[in-house]
Amino acid sequence: MNRVLVIHGPNLNLLGAREPEVYGAFKLEEIDAELNRLAQELNLEVRIVQTNHEGEIVETIQNARNWAQVILINPAAYTHTSVAIPDALKAVGLPAIEVHLSNVYSREEFRHHSYFAGVVKGRILGFGAHSYYLALRAAKTLLPV
Ligand code: DQA
Repeated sequence: MNRVLVIHGPNLNLLGAREPEVYGAFKLEEIDAELNRLAQELNLEVRIVQTNHEGEIVETIQNARNWAQVILINPAAYTHTSVAIPDALKAVGLPAIEVHLSNVYSREEFRHHSYFAGVVKGRILGFGAHSYYLALRAAKTLLPV
């Protein structure tokens, strides 16, 4: 079965309570439940990790190199600050999809730059929780049939 790693970055554990007017009222567990359901429908195996720590994201990516075939990542605030995480993606050489709930280009200027944009296969943003579901469908297209 094809295997997809999903990584949620910092503060995404607070979804539902965190700025619902920006991120929506749903909780991360609800997104994860739908990702698991959709994965079954698409015949994919998913592993989902949330962490608030940059180094843990780097290690998760490194450890996935012999398991995952595609990585979905919402790097959250690390999108705009991290060199180590995109370096890890380059190091493992797996295709990755960058996901954001909000349209970062309609927000503050500092969110307009992504250190991931040149490293990932593609980016899906602005559709709330659906950004993740669209990304999982996009991941399916990167895998052998
Ligand atoms: C985010 C956008 C980032 O700018 C922000 O720091 C987040 C969430 C999003 O999903 O819209 O934490 O990645």
